[in-house]
Amino acid sequence: MTDRLIIFDTTLRDGEQSPGASMTRDEKLRIARQLERLRVDVIEAGFAASSNGDFECVKSIADAIKDSTVCSLARANDRDIARAAEALKGANSGRIHTFIATSPLHMEKKLRMTPEQVLEQARLAVRFARNQCADIEFSPEDGYRSEMDFLCRVLEAVIAEGATTINVPDTVGYAIPELYGDFIKTLRERIPNSDKAIWSVHCHNDLGMAVANSLAGVKIGGARQVECTINGLGERAGNCSLEEVVMAVKTRKDYFGLEVGIDTQHIVPASRMVSQTTGFVVQPNKAVVGANAFAHASGIHQDGVLKARDTYEIMRAEDVGWTANKIVLGKLSGRNAFKQRLQELGVSFESESEINVAFAKFKELADRKSEIFDEDILALVSDESVTPEKEQYGLVSLAQHSETGERPSATVVFTIDGKEFEAQAEGNGPVDASLKAIESHVGSGAELLLYSVNAITSGSTESQGEVTVRLQHGGRVVNGVGADPDIVVASAKAYLSALNKLHSKADKVAAQGWV
Ligand code: KIV
Ligand code: ZN
Repeated sequence: MTDRLIIFDTTLRDGEQSPGASMTRDEKLRIARQLERLRVDVIEAGFAASSNGDFECVKSIADAIKDSTVCSLARANDRDIARAAEALKGANSGRIHTFIATSPLHMEKKLRMTPEQVLEQARLAVRFARNQCADIEFSPEDGYRSEMDFLCRVLEAVIAEGATTINVPDTVGYAIPELYGDFIKTLRERIPNSDKAIWSVHCHNDLGMAVANSLAGVKIGGARQVECTINGLGERAGNCSLEEVVMAVKTRKDYFGLEVGIDTQHIVPASRMVSQTTGFVVQPNKAVVGANAFAHASGIHQDGVLKARDTYEIMRAEDVGWTANKIVLGKLSGRNAFKQRLQELGVSFESESEINVAFAKFKELADRKSEIFDEDILALVSDESVTPEKEQYGLVSLAQHSETGERPSATVVFTIDGKEFEAQAEGNGPVDASLKAIESHVGSGAELLLYSVNAITSGSTESQGEVTVRLQHGGRVVNGVGADPDIVVASAKAYLSALNKLHSKADKVAAQGWV
């Protein structure tokens, strides 16, 4: 058994299934590049057959990524598998991940298939996939709630057909660490050809045990691949969190005795990128990547850490990519310095004109904000208005009036397909008035599910405000994010960004509702 643990990141597939976390192709590409920098072994880039949009995302990532294996999910049928293989054609190293449900409940109620039919379909799917690609992963969906004897038969059959990785999902987050570890161990002991495949764990966090279950699958069960997402992003309570599982295995190497290839210094930037892109805020007390993860507030702790760091710290903040807020650029910085910092932050643009737009925005920000941090730059480039030719709605200007005892009002000037419009409204507060003004003209009918404001850099009221707006319309949920030193302006930007997503990605509907 190898002593290396494979890290399989599914932020862009399972993570994206979280309602409202859907990402554009450019956003996914940027995150994939960060995952490559993080030295993730396998990037699950999407589910190519679910929509044309998802196919294009998987294809672009497969074409661009060189150092990580790029994977596409596919149901256990020829059409899905052929589509995945097509999207992965350009990959240096590609993997097809095919799955079918094996629990009695899923087979009977969802698939309406008999166990024998499921077994046969799994076998044929892996046979077909193996003719397209050498690297095949098979997952029995809801595997943990499947019957052991039946699961052994299915997994033995797919390994015989050439599956190289066997992943055992706890699809509904029902497992308990010891039981899940034993489950994997039993499967490996009972399946005669189990040594021909790498065993993988895939745990959901419904009972808050996804990381513990995954680690038990590794320690007790002998799994050598963990499927996880940045910030634990994912449907419902999310998936196993990459940063937690990686740092547990690294910090407790004495116990796990395993090597992980992750370059941990890229963890915090990856966490920020995913959070800023999806609008899913990281809770302050989140392990490893939460704002308080390394903050010592109590006097006793501070005193201890000052005397000897390891009195209260088991990891070093800088090892996971925390840096003291650093002023990186200012008003006088030129285009080249800006471009170089973008490269260092792993941001790339398709054209020089996109860089010009981003640089103009940076100058505008530097005029209003004396200190520009990395976080400001990342927020600025994740702002969709950097690629104006692709957006339908854009903010031009905003004026608002609020005064104690008066009803606030706002006038917003914005573009729709390049044409300028002005709208006015009153509201309970200036943010409410601004969003009502936009809506009075656009008439999207979208329901506002979430509105949140965060300071991009902590510790100062000079920070930019980052606003997330979550809208729902016609069965779709999208997030818009906007940043600006003025939170009313940030709110209008976030609202327009959400409208852009709502209107431009109709073919993502399938991707969010496939299981
Ligand atoms: O949770 C799950 O069962 C999945 C499979 C498709 C691997 O995400
Ligand atoms: Zn899953």
